[in-house]
Amino acid sequence: MAVDLLLGLQWGDEGKGKIVDVLTDNYDIIARFQGGPNAGHTLEFDGIKHVLHTIPSGIFHKNAINIVGNGVVIDPVIFKKEINNLQKFKIDFKRTLLISRKAHLILPTHRLLDAASEASKGKAKIGSTLKGIGPTYMDKTGRNGMRIGDLELDNWQEKYRALADKHESMIGFYDVDLQYDLRELESDFFSAVEDLKKLTFIDSEEYLYQAQKAGKKILAEGAQGSMLDIDFGTYPYVTSSNTTAAGACTGLGVAPSHIGKVFGIFKAYATRVGSGPFPTELFDEDGATMGRVGNEFGATTGRPRRCGWLDLVALKYAVQINGVTSLMMMKGDVLSGFKKLKICTAYQYKGETISHLPFNIEPENVTPVYTEMEGWAKDLTQMGSPDEFPKSLQAYIDFLENELQVPIQIVSVGPDRKQTIHR
Ligand code: GDP
Ligand code: IMO
Ligand code: MG
Repeated sequence: MAVDLLLGLQWGDEGKGKIVDVLTDNYDIIARFQGGPNAGHTLEFDGIKHVLHTIPSGIFHKNAINIVGNGVVIDPVIFKKEINNLQKFKIDFKRTLLISRKAHLILPTHRLLDAASEASKGKAKIGSTLKGIGPTYMDKTGRNGMRIGDLELDNWQEKYRALADKHESMIGFYDVDLQYDLRELESDFFSAVEDLKKLTFIDSEEYLYQAQKAGKKILAEGAQGSMLDIDFGTYPYVTSSNTTAAGACTGLGVAPSHIGKVFGIFKAYATRVGSGPFPTELFDEDGATMGRVGNEFGATTGRPRRCGWLDLVALKYAVQINGVTSLMMMKGDVLSGFKKLKICTAYQYKGETISHLPFNIEPENVTPVYTEMEGWAKDLTQMGSPDEFPKSLQAYIDFLENELQVPIQIVSVGPDRKQTIHR
């Protein structure tokens, strides 16, 4: 049985958590393949709103198995908090939440290095969530990291000490005044590791291989979005993992020939949190309205998200890189009331009009070219079927499908599970 993928196509926060939760009814296994607690995936159902960071978004479904794959980086302290926040749901974590032995550990000193690196960059900072993501992936590719499986070894604390000591000396290289109490951070860390060890660690690539052979249905859940991909995003203003489809192969050990459907999620407009280029960003009342109506605040950091018009040049690029087979359009309800809507269909770049994503998309290099469309006044949040779509929403969808050459299978009209229209 092929493994299906679900990925964000913009700068993250497209609504992945909501849709994974909606789709979990059709799957036996949900597997996160990259990122870590920099992610914030929001789910809403039965009047409850819940934000997950490292735990896959299928966790509320009793029969689904949730796997944290080898490509994920785990902070035991945040993981413990996530588990504690879920206590009231009476979830059998030992059975339904399985962690790859090959997933890397975020140490307290990784977080400190992240903070020191960002502080030293001044205005050029990435706008990291400061969860230690960059330094942890650096240790992974630098072949210095610690993995979940190491925690099963007798000498793991020695390994920890050597790496943490090295990190402390590295912090000294940064010309910043970082205040911290490492002993206190370590006490929390060691206590959280003991809790983590009560969960089930697995050889996840083998588990997933056997599950595929047994005909289990598997959905891989991405974090962040394609424009934050370490290779294809707006480098260096990106995260430190491959957020695109290829990341699911390396982050779970699934062969490319075993990938099935690729679901790509996008907002009907665009947002970005943190620094970096964003060609269609709005600094006017329209942008403020999107932020207010869309409640655009980071689910992990609470920072306001920058808002702008849909960027079809970037979206096409993401569809292409990921091989998206069906699309999901989120938050169309937020655009209700706009008289006119704009969609960026090309960039002015070095005196030319181009429709592909160039190397540089900073404001001094690209100027968006817009197509204007009619808006819709109708409140979409109570709609139950595509028959109820206002004409101009249908025209918006038709336009995008025609440009992207991929069907829009789901239109989401509110944060709740139920506010999901299948086409
Ligand atoms: P993720 O990181 O991709 O899982 O997305 P986030 O959870 O960070 O951000 C998406 C936000 O939009 C969350 O607050 C969701 O509850 C909310 N949301 C998801 N879909 C919709 C929708 O169709 N309409 C509205 N208004 N909100 C939505
Ligand atoms: P989800 O999964 C939106 C952004 C940060 C910053 C950059 C690097 O919820 O969509 P990092 O902490 O990885 O060093 O930050 O990436 N970023 C996200 N933006 N959604 C996310 O995850 C993000 N994870 C990281 O704001 O600009
Ligand atoms: Mg998010």
